[in-house]
Amino acid sequence: MIMDGRARLDELCDSLGDPYARGDRYAVFCGDALSLMGRVKPDAFDLTVTSPPYNIGKEYEDPRPLEEYLNWCEQWMGGIHRITHPRGAFWLNVGYLSIPEKAKALPLPYLLWDRNPFFLVQEVVWNYGAGVAARKSLSPRNEKFLWYVKDPDAYTFNLDAIRDPDVKYPNQKKNKRLRCNTIGKNPSDVWRIAKVTSGRNRASAERAPHPAQFPLDLIDRVVLGFSNPEDLVLDPFLGSGTTAVSCVRNGRFVVGIEIQESYCECAADRIEAELQAEKSRLFVY
Ligand SMILES: C[S@@+](CC[C@H](N)C(=O)[O-])C[C@H]1O[C@@H](n2cnc3c(N)ncnc32)[C@H](O)[C@@H]1O
Repeated sequence: MIMDGRARLDELCDSLGDPYARGDRYAVFCGDALSLMGRVKPDAFDLTVTSPPYNIGKEYEDPRPLEEYLNWCEQWMGGIHRITHPRGAFWLNVGYLSIPEKAKALPLPYLLWDRNPFFLVQEVVWNYGAGVAARKSLSPRNEKFLWYVKDPDAYTFNLDAIRDPDVKYPNQKKNKRLRCNTIGKNPSDVWRIAKVTSGRNRASAERAPHPAQFPLDLIDRVVLGFSNPEDLVLDPFLGSGTTAVSCVRNGRFVVGIEIQESYCECAADRIEAELQAEKSRLFVY
């Protein structure tokens, strides 16, 4: 029998021990992703959305030799595959790293794409519009999402939930029928979504104390398009908790794993703030 997301979340909390924070629809665990995922039963998650450390010396990582880093990635991606439901998916966000005497900015998908047993459906370009200005090369303005599934013939794709309403000729007709879908167009494989910015006069409203925070609009699109209501979602590198915030506000169950306690605290605060905001909205109506 297939258990629903809530039952799987409850079961998972029993097997993983005390979460750092727990609510009706979420659990945040403070610890190492690889070892915690190793204690999860197979097929537990419908969707994993994550962005790992890129091995580029951010404040939350200790860079390792390249091969060691890639082997580590292979291990946790294998772990994600084991605990993904047969009709489930894995959305992996990665950027670039430099390799001395070889590449200034090597796209991580070149190194990681086939280091796991998933089937790759598509690469999505996340174009974030603004960022640092380069002097000796083009200014970087994108990262990638790799959309993996376990079964290429059976996976969730809710296109209507993520259609882009910005259609150029919405009233165009052919044989007296509207040519385009009235909800909007397919959002394509290039997603123009602003980055979370920092700085005194330009900080995004959603800015949290984390240097690599996902924008909520980006993760909402993944959660809505590639999982169903009541599904169970995982982010094993939770950071400031964006995946979890998106899941609770879109009616999914979610488990987050994060190694640094201060980020777990940030994630838990953001999730609770979202739940409070939702309660206030219900109260107003
Ligand atoms: C790229 S950031 C994720 C940011 C996140 N997407 C957000 O919206 O804030 C990667 C996170 O992985 C965490 N991390 C690094 N090694 C880890 C490990 N072994 N297990 C769990 N978390 C880890 C880091 O502390 C960091 O917060």
